[in-house]
Amino acid sequence: MRSLIAIVDVGSTRNAEIARKVRSLGMYSEIFNYDVTAQELKAVPGLCGVVVNGGSNNVLDGKKIDVNAELYDMGLPVLTVGHEGAHKADLPAWPEDYTDLLNAFLDRTGCERNWNTESFIEAEVANLKSQVGARKVLLALSGGVDSSVVAALLIKALGKEQVTCVHVNHGLLRKGESEQVVKVFREQMGANLIYVDAVDRFLDKLAGVADPEQKRKIIGNEFIEVFRDEAMKLKGVELLGQGTIYPDIVESGTKTAKLVKSHHNTGGLPKDIAEKFELVEPIKMLFKDEVRAVGRALGLPSKMVDRQPFPGPGLGVRCLGAITRERLEMVRESDAILRDEFDKAGLNGKVWQYFTLIPDTKSTGVRNNARAYEYPVVIRAVNTVDAMTATVPELPWPLMKKITDRILTEVPGVCRVLMDLSPKPIATIEWE
Ligand code: XMP
Repeated sequence: MRSLIAIVDVGSTRNAEIARKVRSLGMYSEIFNYDVTAQELKAVPGLCGVVVNGGSNNVLDGKKIDVNAELYDMGLPVLTVGHEGAHKADLPAWPEDYTDLLNAFLDRTGCERNWNTESFIEAEVANLKSQVGARKVLLALSGGVDSSVVAALLIKALGKEQVTCVHVNHGLLRKGESEQVVKVFREQMGANLIYVDAVDRFLDKLAGVADPEQKRKIIGNEFIEVFRDEAMKLKGVELLGQGTIYPDIVESGTKTAKLVKSHHNTGGLPKDIAEKFELVEPIKMLFKDEVRAVGRALGLPSKMVDRQPFPGPGLGVRCLGAITRERLEMVRESDAILRDEFDKAGLNGKVWQYFTLIPDTKSTGVRNNARAYEYPVVIRAVNTVDAMTATVPELPWPLMKKITDRILTEVPGVCRVLMDLSPKPIATIEWE
């Protein structure tokens, strides 16, 4: 039985942090709303203890909120955090490191610490087998961390025959990404992978469209259309795999809202498609770093599992203004050089996000003793915790010179390399 700690949220902004911490100490945790009853909690398999998290003076809809007093009488250890009501806080403020206290609390439950990547995979494989049975599952496989891990889990649990992955190449992925999806899933895992070359379809639709939001809309809609076309061709598929993760479900950072939402992530698919299927969401209780650990344990390459965030519209929003195939190639090639050199310099994983982008203005240069009128490329590298604010790290000058030289010699049509030094705010991370 999986040991479980219930984190009961009384309007704290740090539920996810505590839940994450409990798991890192080897016990599974889930976040519950402040009004959860003892009866509801007792029905949760493996419940070992309760953390009441948040002040008893917090207010929701003009009313003070507190946990149901009966939670203290369940015969289970209760840890109170920042709770100054009838039950005094075990942990009043927030010390820098509360690991010891949490460890002592977990010991007090007397339960086994049995939460780890392997035990998750084993339990989830069993869950998937029982949910899906002999039926068939369809999955949109973008090549991002979440959909890749869902695919690997589904294949492990159900085998290749019951799982169909659809990978849509919209022409806006980074260099080698689509090829990697095909290589890993079709060749190495033997997955049933439908590869859709939709490059022309997307680029034709985007031709002449300069407005960023319009571009996003077209890319999103077109993706749905392509996926719908493929789904229609398949017979007998009843389930749809989704890469929903725990942060999608837990809405943190608010003292008033109902903090645990029941929420269906349609993975960018519209309701009418998602509703045709029964959803399978095997990683919906995992935090991002846990998803990565599961991916690693299932044999996915680091390039796929540890990849930095990449916007859904991909290079479409890094090829500024109206996208042309020529400039798209320039941004893809320069981005590959940047990533290659950052990798070699050991900066992968140290800098949060880095990429190149290409404006739609030319500048003058000299090539082969003649005047050239070519494009500039901009390097963007940022560090951030939550993408809401970001800073630009100091980077080694020789490395930046090397990247510049390589882009200027290896990418035809580029005669200038710039570095964006703007923090967020005022600038956003992406340019569009
Ligand atoms: P900004 O540019 O808003 O970016 O500072 C913050 C983070 O979000 C990513 N981003 C997107 N991700 N679809 C996405 O899935 C988008 O349209 C999009 N726009 C920006 C960006 O890469 C950064 O990590």
